[in-house]
Amino acid sequence: MRSVARAAATSPGRDAGEHTSAVKPENDLFLRACRRERVERTPVWIMRQAGRYLPSYQELRRRHSFRELCESPAVAAEAAFQPVDQLGLDAAILFSDIMVPVQAMGLDVEFDPGPKIARPIRTAADVARLEPPDAAARMPFVAEAIRETNRRLARRVPLIGFAGAPFTLAAYVVEGGGSKSWNRLLGMMHGEPRTLLALLEILTETVVRHLALQIDAGADAVQLFDTWAGLLSEESYERFELPFVRRIAATVAARGVPFIAYANGGAHLLGAMAASGATVLSVDWRVPLDRVRAAVGDGVALQGNLDPCALHAPPHAIRERVADVLRRGGRTGHVFNLGHGIHPEAPLEGVREMVRAVREISSAAAAGDAA
Ligand code: CP3
Repeated sequence: MRSVARAAATSPGRDAGEHTSAVKPENDLFLRACRRERVERTPVWIMRQAGRYLPSYQELRRRHSFRELCESPAVAAEAAFQPVDQLGLDAAILFSDIMVPVQAMGLDVEFDPGPKIARPIRTAADVARLEPPDAAARMPFVAEAIRETNRRLARRVPLIGFAGAPFTLAAYVVEGGGSKSWNRLLGMMHGEPRTLLALLEILTETVVRHLALQIDAGADAVQLFDTWAGLLSEESYERFELPFVRRIAATVAARGVPFIAYANGGAHLLGAMAASGATVLSVDWRVPLDRVRAAVGDGVALQGNLDPCALHAPPHAIRERVADVLRRGGRTGHVFNLGHGIHPEAPLEGVREMVRAVREISSAAAAGDAA
């Protein structure tokens, strides 16, 4: 039913400025918090919530390669559904990877388990051969996974789509994989800035198309993962990332869904990010949310920011850390999350304690407000 309504909503001629969500999710705490509306309790989801810390994910992985998971909508929907179902989270995230659109550009990407690119992009001639992909033609499984996940969730909670930020995608594309020093990427930035800017232009258009595909298929919000933004100074962020993030934020805003900007190691970049047009700033664990709030003002919601390592502590310590994050995050405009993706080694009991603590502490605080 929903997919029919969606198809109608995305047919040519619909009002381009409006995101016509066919069916409102039953639990819309996450969307209300993104819009800084009052909530009965603080919503919680976990970056990288469908992943290796979850035994049922490991079970899926015994039967399918990671690539098969990403490209098989029914299995991807199952992977996205599991953490919501098992942990009682307030939002789901599409099961896919930031490197999927890079693959769709024709680059040879393998996962081992992190991305490896056979022929990295190192020169202006390499960049000149790249083009943004036709998203619907090259990644039909992404749109289908969104629709399938919404069916699997029966619209119990909202579904978040995502993409990698252009600079983070460029990091993998130029290095050919993860790196300790990122010498090639940063060497290009300092030595051949125009080559890097040309690459970022192509990646930005790729991200715009990747996110539009997801929103049009039914994503209720989207998050931009800027995992390597912390490599940049404020000045280089303003040249090599901010203009591109702004462009992406504007195209998401035109579709009417919340835009969450996450930068790992980006405490020094939060002011610039707040000026990007983001609806929500997702903050890592290195800076407390009350300080972020004081610095950026009330115009954006905040997401975060428990240290992922806190999940390895005993239950009473997890509870204390959660209470501290909730107090600093405030009652409105806060989405509880970790400050970075959950570790594969995270103990499930710790994760459950975190979710329980968020629910209990934040609903008691909201009830206190109402009394
Ligand atoms: O619940 C979810 O968030 C699932 C969807 C998701 C994946 N990757 C699945 C995945 C999301 C949102 C991502 C984002 C992603 N991918 C980022 C940004 C997030 C961040 O932490 O800052 C980055 C840098 C990548 C690139 C990537 N893909 C890396 C570094 C790795 C290595 C392994 C890992 O888990 O970090 C991957 C592979 C990958 N992507 C896995 C999963 C579940 C593990 C694959 C496996 O099962 O072997």
